[in-house]
Amino acid sequence: MIIETWNEKETFDVGKSLGDKAEKGQIYTLTGDLGVGKTVFTKGLAEGLKITEPISSPTFTIVQIYESGRMPLYHFDVYRIGDVEEMEEIGYEDCFYGDGVCLIEWANLIEEILPEDIIPVTIEKDLEKGFDYRRITIGE
Ligand SMILES: Nc1ncnc2c1ncn2[C@@H]1O[C@H](COP(=O)(O)OP(=O)(O)O)[C@@H](O)[C@H]1O
Ligand SMILES: [Mg+2]
Repeated sequence: MIIETWNEKETFDVGKSLGDKAEKGQIYTLTGDLGVGKTVFTKGLAEGLKITEPISSPTFTIVQIYESGRMPLYHFDVYRIGDVEEMEEIGYEDCFYGDGVCLIEWANLIEEILPEDIIPVTIEKDLEKGFDYRRITIGE
């Protein structure tokens, strides 16, 4: 599925509609260049899950867990991971196979431990369509 957005709010709302419908055990991967709107999308997803805490970047902690919503959100940013063993150390399996929703940024770096049944989300710009245009691809 491809959704085009033309401003920040529309991208937020795409995330929110996924969060509204999210079911426990779902794992989303989130791919896109710096500044494309990954955090905007994540904030929308969190809103859809009724999370009330502010969403920040998990870069320095690898995973940030939000538990104020209707189910936990495990927000991973694995950019700084050296080895997948670090994922074992933080107990990723409790998140991947747990009672909430996972959102993983830079998931390609941990491909070997990703379950088959993930939902890839890719956000891209197309400057020919304008500075604020984004194309969001959900699923294969
Ligand atoms: N259609 C759009 N969707 C999302 N963000 C947009 C859009 N148009 C412009 N922006 C801007 O792009 C930036 C995205 O930032 P951010 O979500 O932090 O990116 P990332 O987390 O991918 O690095 C914000 O400043 C936002 O206002
Ligand atoms: Mg970000």
